[in-house]
Amino acid sequence: MPLLAQRPRARFHPLTVSQVRPLTDAAIEVTLAVPDELAEDYNYVSGQYVALRTELEGKEVRRSYSICAAPTSGEIKIAIKRDLGGLFSNWANDNLKPGDVLDVMSPTGAFVSQHAVTSLNDPQAIGEESVGLSRYMAFAAGSGITPILSITRAVLASNPQAYMNLVYSNRAAMDVMFVEDIADLKDRYPSRLAVHHLLSREQRLSPTHTGRLDAEKLRSMLGTVFRPEVVDEWFLCGPFELVQLLRDELSAAGVSADKVRYELFTTGKPTAAPEGNIGRPVVADAAGGNIEITFNLDGLEGQVLSPKSARESILNAALRVRQDVPFACAGGVCGTCRAKVISGEVAMDENYALEPDEVAAGYVLTCQSHPKGDAVHVDFDS
Ligand code: FES
Repeated sequence: MPLLAQRPRARFHPLTVSQVRPLTDAAIEVTLAVPDELAEDYNYVSGQYVALRTELEGKEVRRSYSICAAPTSGEIKIAIKRDLGGLFSNWANDNLKPGDVLDVMSPTGAFVSQHAVTSLNDPQAIGEESVGLSRYMAFAAGSGITPILSITRAVLASNPQAYMNLVYSNRAAMDVMFVEDIADLKDRYPSRLAVHHLLSREQRLSPTHTGRLDAEKLRSMLGTVFRPEVVDEWFLCGPFELVQLLRDELSAAGVSADKVRYELFTTGKPTAAPEGNIGRPVVADAAGGNIEITFNLDGLEGQVLSPKSARESILNAALRVRQDVPFACAGGVCGTCRAKVISGEVAMDENYALEPDEVAAGYVLTCQSHPKGDAVHVDFDS
């Protein structure tokens, strides 16, 4: 798969906020200025995300947010929706303003159009060339629209023979993010973009567009709103349970898994590690019951001992000796902590980020991986 070799390791740089635009009462779009000297680092493919890092209440806080705009030189736009009790999202909605500086990780992530990438064999070329007749289907819930909007813009702009069918689910009209942007896109591509707004708490004229996006709703849309057999690629972005349900239903409808791309919200995921556990102090076992973890990062080799009794992740152990080991969600969702196993064996608890071919090639999520033997060597630079 072309993306596999082309996921460079992400790095943090300070970027200045150039604009903050309200999207709804509970969401903002934040534009970050990318200086010329960092243009290369912040090249991205529609559908990728960035991690933000700042200090709040005396603690380092990291969150990842999808990029909502199609690739534009000199800036990156993300959307931040308030989470119930969310420390970073509420702080950002209340306080972020032009001129503020945030640590922003260079873009990463594999939630991109493989169909367009494979056809072009160059991910950076999306938005520049045509790939022939292509039919896309996207399901977004809430802020899951963010990467899907970026992908929609890119595939429609890049290919005059691309068609996108978008189902966007929200509780109420006031929760719909990017409502004007979606309407503008629809005006620009009236015959190539179909948008179905589903509202779970408001009655709409069409019963198809009223109610929750669930198995019954999906089945009622299959074959009426869209025909699965002609879809080249599917995009799903929303909470864990919804994405799992849609994947199961599409599989039952005969859709091949290799046509389905999905991304989970980084909040609400079932396996997120408590932030306080990341890099927590663990003391090597003086009696010798340790695992030797070796890792390559930025061309340098690091080593750390991890007591067998702690059953800690490779990421956690590595962070004790190198603060710049990459991570964002710590929950197996974002893929930022990806590394390749050079020697030794690991057990990976969860994986919502790596493609099967990446796993087959030896890549693991270090935030979810525990060494199985006495020694393991991983490479973050691969
Ligand atoms: S840090 Fe997100 S998957 Fe490991």
